[in-house]
Amino acid sequence: MRVEVRSSEEVQLMKRAGLVVYDVLSRITDAVRPGISTRRLDQIADDCIRKAGAIPSFKGYRGYPASVCTSPNEVVVHGIPDDYRLRDGDIIGVDCGAILDGWHGDAAVTLPVGDVSDEAAELISVTRHSLAAGIRQAIEGNRLGDIGFAVQEVAESCGFSVVREYVGHGIGREMHEAPQIPNYGPPDSGKRIKNGNVFALEPMINAGDFATKVLDDGWTVVTRDGSLSAHFEHTVAVTPDGPEILTVVGETEAELVRLAAN
Ligand code: MF3
Ligand code: CO
Repeated sequence: MRVEVRSSEEVQLMKRAGLVVYDVLSRITDAVRPGISTRRLDQIADDCIRKAGAIPSFKGYRGYPASVCTSPNEVVVHGIPDDYRLRDGDIIGVDCGAILDGWHGDAAVTLPVGDVSDEAAELISVTRHSLAAGIRQAIEGNRLGDIGFAVQEVAESCGFSVVREYVGHGIGREMHEAPQIPNYGPPDSGKRIKNGNVFALEPMINAGDFATKVLDDGWTVVTRDGSLSAHFEHTVAVTPDGPEILTVVGETEAELVRLAAN
């Protein structure tokens, strides 16, 4: 499958879509607290996307019923918003996608709810750092395997495991484009990365074993051993100036990526 190469003008259009997603996740971050339902988080996201003149890409995707995925605790990804109310000590993954002027943005965060255990806080921090390490590898001349290798190294060196069944992806006119981008595997393997490639990088990291299973609703992915799982995702363009994160504004994530150099 062909890996698309976008012009810098197209990348800037994708940045506009990315910033809609960033805005949604910022609002969700402010809203998350003990007692709020995941359905309410979905309403906030849906309102925010539509007010921006964008379309929620998840809603209706293969029959998916909501505008975000909400994945608490042992849920790895693709949790469906419902009447569950967040509790103090939970962690909650929120994944959002939007289409603006035909271009897709896709990003996810995992947030602590109130006071969380040391293990939960570390899992969140390590997963975020593993994504930063992967993003740093998204430069022309590297290979796709360099991304997964960097993610895996961060996660496993901290005693956590990398989910195998779900991977990152190309993104652009479609939410899921070629190539698939695993968060594990050998370095210096796979296709060469080129300027103009745009990737959704999304490590899912488990506190216990990496094995997962899908619940009977056909969507919710949980850890087999019931351990906690965290997920972070950014849409990232490969540019001559290095990786450009399209689903963020300001310096916070860029700082994190620089930090991952050490
Ligand atoms: N961000 C996820 C992905 O990249 C979620 C999409 S699944 C959906 O695959 F059904 F909710 F859209
Ligand atoms: Co994605």
